[in-house]
Amino acid sequence: MTTSLSSKAVVITGASTGIGRACALHLDELGLPVFAGVRRPADAVDLQQVASAGLTPLFIDVTDQATITAAAEQVRTALNGSGLAGLVNNAGIAVGGPLEFLPLAKLKAQFEINVLGQMAVTQAFLPLLRPARGRVINMSSISGRIAMPYLGPYAASKFALEALNDSLRVELKPWGIEVICIEPGAIKTPIWHKSLTEAQVMADGLPQQAEKLYGPAMAHLVEAVMRRGEGGIPAEEVAKVVAEALLTHRPKTRYLVGRNAKIGALVAWLLPDRLRDWVVSRRRTYGDR
Ligand SMILES: NC(=O)c1ccc[n+]([C@@H]2O[C@H](COP(=O)([O-])OP(=O)(O)OC[C@H]3O[C@@H](n4cnc5c(N)ncnc54)[C@H](OP(=O)(O)O)[C@@H]3O)[C@@H](O)[C@H]2O)c1
Repeated sequence: MTTSLSSKAVVITGASTGIGRACALHLDELGLPVFAGVRRPADAVDLQQVASAGLTPLFIDVTDQATITAAAEQVRTALNGSGLAGLVNNAGIAVGGPLEFLPLAKLKAQFEINVLGQMAVTQAFLPLLRPARGRVINMSSISGRIAMPYLGPYAASKFALEALNDSLRVELKPWGIEVICIEPGAIKTPIWHKSLTEAQVMADGLPQQAEKLYGPAMAHLVEAVMRRGEGGIPAEEVAKVVAEALLTHRPKTRYLVGRNAKIGALVAWLLPDRLRDWVVSRRRTYGDR
C-alpha cells in the first residue's frame, strides 16, 4: 500500500451488492481505507470476509437521518482529524411502471432513496470532505440523460440527481471539492431482479383497466429489464471508473460507462424529441388505445 493511497479514505453507500460492493472491494484492493455502507449485519460480515482490514462497514440507511449522522460521527472519529478523500453516493433502487397508475408512494420512495438520501448523506459528510478537498461521486445512470417509457420514476430520480450534481459542482468549486457524476448503462447487478419483483407486485395490484391498457407494455418491461440485467457489463467496470474519478489529478465532470450508455447519450444529444420517441418505443407493444 502506498502512503498516498492509504491516506485517501472513502465512504461508499449501498455496498452490500452490485456496483457499491464492487467499488468497495476494488478501492480496498488498491489500498484505500474504505467505509462501506450496509444495512444488515450479515452484509458487513460478508464484506469483511473478502476485504482487507482496511475496510470498515458503516451502518447507513440513506432514508434514516439518525444512521447518517451516526455514520458521519463514526468516520470523523476514525479519521482522527484528517479529512475524507471521497464520498461515493451509490445506494439506489429502480422503480418502474406506467405513470398513469403508479402509486405515488412508490414515486416518493424512489425519490427518498435516490435523491433526498444522496443529498442527506452529502450534507452530513461535507464537513469531513472539506479539509481534504475530497470528491463527491454521484452514481447516476444513462437514465439521467434519457428517460425510457415505464422507467419514469427511476429516470426522474436520476435527472434530479444530475441537476443537484451540477449545482453542487459549481457551489463547491471555491473549496476545490470536485463533484462528479458516473453514468453507467446496463450493468449486471441484482437491481434489475429487485425492480422486476417490484414491477410484478405492482402489476398484480393494478386495476383491471390498467391491465387492459398497459398489460402488453408491462410484459415488455419485464422482458426488457430481464434482458438488461442479464446483458449488462460487470460492476467491476464501474468500480474502475469510480477509482479513476477519485484518484486522477483532473477528473472529468461526468463519466459514461459502457457501450449502451455512450449510445444512449448520443441519442439523447443528437435526436429531436419525436425521432427519439420513435427509437425508444419502436419495439414496444401497446394495449388498447
Ligand atoms: N445496474 C445497473 O444497470 C445500473 C446502471 C446505472 C446506474 N446504476 C446505479 O448504481 C447504483 C447501485 O445499483 P446496483 O445496480 O449496484 O444495484 P444493487 O445491487 O441493487 O445495489 C443497490 C444498493 O443500494 C442499497 N440501498 C437500497 N436502498 C437503500 C437505503 N435506503 N439506504 C442505504 N442503502 C440502500 C442496497 O442495499 P440493501 O442490500 O441493504 O438493499 C444495495 O447495497 C444505483 O444508484 C443505481 O441506480 C445501476
